[in-house]
Amino acid sequence: MTRAKQMRLPSVAVLVWLCLVTDSNVWTASGSDVTTPATSTNMTNDVQQVFTQHEVIPDVIDVAPKEFAKISYPSGVSVEGGNELRPTQVKDQPRVEWTAKPDAYYTLFMVDPDAPNRKEPKFREIGHWLVGNIPGTKVEDGDHMYAFAGSGPPNGSGLHRYVFLVYEQPAGKIDYSQAPRVSNRSRNHRVNYNHRAFVKQYGLGELVAGNFYQAQYDDYVPTLHAQLSSGTE
Ligand SMILES: *[C@@H]1O[C@H](CO)[C@@H](O)[C@H](O)[C@H]1NC(C)=O
Ligand SMILES: *[C@@H]1O[C@H](CO)[C@@H](O)[C@H](O)[C@H]1NC(C)=O
Ligand SMILES: *[C@@H]1O[C@H](CO)[C@@H](O)[C@H](O)[C@H]1NC(C)=O
Repeated sequence: MTRAKQMRLPSVAVLVWLCLVTDSNVWTASGSDVTTPATSTNMTNDVQQVFTQHEVIPDVIDVAPKEFAKISYPSGVSVEGGNELRPTQVKDQPRVEWTAKPDAYYTLFMVDPDAPNRKEPKFREIGHWLVGNIPGTKVEDGDHMYAFAGSGPPNGSGLHRYVFLVYEQPAGKIDYSQAPRVSNRSRNHRVNYNHRAFVKQYGLGELVAGNFYQAQYDDYVPTLHAQLSSGTE
């Protein structure tokens, strides 16, 4: 609640400025693989504004994360608060970093709320990635529940938002042995995923970091769809 009080309503000038910043990021990201972090932004102010401007609040979360997660892909691109990236650029598992307490455990989600499209999201959400019991930011050492799957927005379905969320586990390590395990060759448990229900079920705590990009169809999508249909596990 204090967060809401602290936030001042953005002026029209600030919103216009944010749109310009977002547009220039889009241009940079799709024009080349150069990654220029948005260094001019004020993190304290921006997170709430960017998540609200793109309606990630309220579509996916109710309260803004404390900070932007730093997310970068092997292709060289990075996630910058709603920038547009191509499925080809985000096909491999990214590095995700956030400000972590050394002894705490975290759970990381990646979800797409815009399936099959943003206008009529009857499959909201798609679970793209789920890793729990991450010690600090060592994602590789966590419990990998849903293997990472890249972006597969159907042809003609427009831009989808792909949202990363990092929650702190307030009571330390969690017994996730009953939660499903999904490989990167399967859609099991991914469609109509409800990350809020999972957060509640396992008593996850503060949303410490988050970020999101947008993507629309490109010619990598059929490859991903074939991969997700190739297994049963
Ligand atoms: C960022 O925004 C916060 C909240 O309005 C403000 O307190 C802080 O001074 C700003 N930081 C910079 C570097 O402008
Ligand atoms: C994608 O959709 C466009 C427009 O509807 C169509 O012209 C194109 O052939 C489609 N591409 C594929 C690979 O289906
Ligand atoms: C799918 O998962 C397997 C096993 O972990 C891994 O070797 C492979 O690189 C993954 N494929 C993609 C496209 O991420």
